[in-house]
Amino acid sequence: MRAQALIFLGAPGAGKGTQAREVSKELGIPQISTGDMLREAVKKGTPLGLEAKRKMEAGELVPDEVVCGIVEERVGQPDAAKGFVLDGFPRTIPQAQFVDAMLERKGRGNPLAVNIRVDEDVLLKRLTGRRTCSVCGEIYNVHFNPPRVDGICDKDGGKLLERADDNETTIRQRLVAYNNQTSPLIDYYRKKKLLHEVNGNLEPDQIARTLIPFLKGA
Ligand code: AP5
Ligand code: MG
Repeated sequence: MRAQALIFLGAPGAGKGTQAREVSKELGIPQISTGDMLREAVKKGTPLGLEAKRKMEAGELVPDEVVCGIVEERVGQPDAAKGFVLDGFPRTIPQAQFVDAMLERKGRGNPLAVNIRVDEDVLLKRLTGRRTCSVCGEIYNVHFNPPRVDGICDKDGGKLLERADDNETTIRQRLVAYNNQTSPLIDYYRKKKLLHEVNGNLEPDQIARTLIPFLKGA
């Protein structure tokens, strides 16, 4: 029986979004990215967005209770009934404990955590080179996976945007937050025997080619 909750762990720029998008398409389950949901709230200027904006710009984590609330609401929607991919959540021990309690309460079994390991020295280049389609969310990279036409999405012609937090100062802070608050989750899931490790230094397609069949059977 496949795990219903797939969790993508990894440093900023490890490729969580890139792989979670493919897995979501291939397995027919939604990708739930807390980063994307928070950015959407910032764009709309909702009270949640206003609270999150300062933290995101500083490269710090948004408070646990805020993020847990939006995930619980999203996981309860009908399209997540058969399973879901959590991209960038949990990223603190209290968030991981919240996931355990939520899955238990809903009778949805154990999660499976996929840890994407990447050498730290490539992360900065990946993040400063990232461009994301404003229409479909496709992720590009000017160094590693450029669009055919500069600044334009290959799929729908949408404008490619840079993220506000992909500047060097904020990236450094995001890495500090990752190392201090999120990396302990690797051991958390390893001890529970719920961890699958992936070499994120390979090409995105190469990673997906082995990861997706594994997840279909996991
Ligand atoms: P979030 O949006 O989750 O950002 P992040 O964790 O910093 O991760 P990224 O989205 O930057 O990287 P990614 O691993 O998805 O990489 P991607 O696939 O895009 O969070 C942003 C902020 O929101 C946080 O700082 C925090 O403030 C807040 N937040 C979010 N969730 C929270 C939570 N749970 N709790 C508290 N606060 C929270 O790839 C990056 C680039 O590399 C792309 O250009 C891509 O094309 C390229 N690439 C990908 N894979 C490869 C590869 N294999 N080889 C070469 N290039 C590759
Ligand atoms: Mg991402």
